[in-house]
Amino acid sequence: MHTSTAMRRTCRTALVAAAVVVVALATAPAVCESQTTKQQQQQQKKKGPLVTAVIVFGDSIMDPGNNNGLHTLVKANHAPYGKDFANHEPTGRFSNGLIPTDFMAQGLNVKQLLPPYLGVEHTPEDLLTGVSFASGATGFDPLTPIIVNVISLEQQLAYFDEYRGKLVGIAGEEGTRRVIDGALFVVCAGTDDIANTYYTTPFRSAHYDVPAYVDLLLVGVESFLRNVSARGAKRVGFVGLPPIGCVPSQRAMGGGGGCVAERNAAARLYNARVQGLIRRLGEEDPAGFPTLVYIDIYTVIQDLVDNGARYGFSETKKGCCGTGTAEVAVLCDARFLPVCDDVSEHVFFDSYHPTQRAYKVIVDYIFDHYLRFLNL
Ligand SMILES: *[C@@H]1O[C@H](CO)[C@@H](O)[C@H](O)[C@H]1NC(C)=O
Repeated sequence: MHTSTAMRRTCRTALVAAAVVVVALATAPAVCESQTTKQQQQQQKKKGPLVTAVIVFGDSIMDPGNNNGLHTLVKANHAPYGKDFANHEPTGRFSNGLIPTDFMAQGLNVKQLLPPYLGVEHTPEDLLTGVSFASGATGFDPLTPIIVNVISLEQQLAYFDEYRGKLVGIAGEEGTRRVIDGALFVVCAGTDDIANTYYTTPFRSAHYDVPAYVDLLLVGVESFLRNVSARGAKRVGFVGLPPIGCVPSQRAMGGGGGCVAERNAAARLYNARVQGLIRRLGEEDPAGFPTLVYIDIYTVIQDLVDNGARYGFSETKKGCCGTGTAEVAVLCDARFLPVCDDVSEHVFFDSYHPTQRAYKVIVDYIFDHYLRFLNL
């Protein structure tokens, strides 16, 4: 056993005491981190897969193309999306190339791309190593997917149940349990609830102030997490909200200047409340609930926006495509909007979504800070 293994174990013992561990960046132990990260990464390269499968629920940040077959405007299966993907193929990923779930599957040595559940022919191996059920523009507010006609989180769970049936057909009941037991589940949604449903349509803002709306979202989050837990998930990473007020569309709607403070404050309130919920769920049933880890992406995205140059980005405010055209914000379409020359300069690809290179920075951050809390 090398020191790195011992070190990892020490960090784990110290920190993964409860079944549920909630981590704030501020409390992350710098010592463990700096000494182990590089070694852990090297170990991962030598080892086989760190999980059996990656199984994802959520919105466009995690959607590899589940919206392609839907009657919705929220699709990315056209240029310039995918312009840096293999063969420049617009797969439905909301990025110029890969999205976070692909980098996660790669980083865990599972596979190169995490496929969508819908619309592709899967091999048995594809299914056994995980898929994404995520649907761009969905959210925890039941109204959010209805407004844009995308897949609700409840329906994503129904697809998961169907998927589980397919696994049983391939691997039997016991083999399926092994896949689920060893899988990493990732949940990422909520941005569209606040950015779209709350701040763009009148349906909720007419009746709820921000704290009351966050309460409504928390009801959805709790219900969803209980349902995921009931399906046997053992490890769940729950991704918090980014600084919503800093994405190009929100800046434009807020007057085109800096980040919109009010929208960032709403995201921070939600993040704080979600962390409280996750803590409570763990305390309520420490043995029965999965290891549930809150993953902060607010900090790293704010840093990308504020200090882009440190990461090699010269444009942190405007998207590569659709710059300044806020109201058609969700989507970029090369037929109507100019596309930038050098996407590698940009943190954002369109008016909402980071570029592949920014996503890589974000996933590297997640791996550096959170893998050990997921017992990986
Ligand atoms: C969770 O499951 C219950 C019971 O099946 C269902 O009524 C509820 O809508 C589900 N919630 C979510 C968010 O999926």
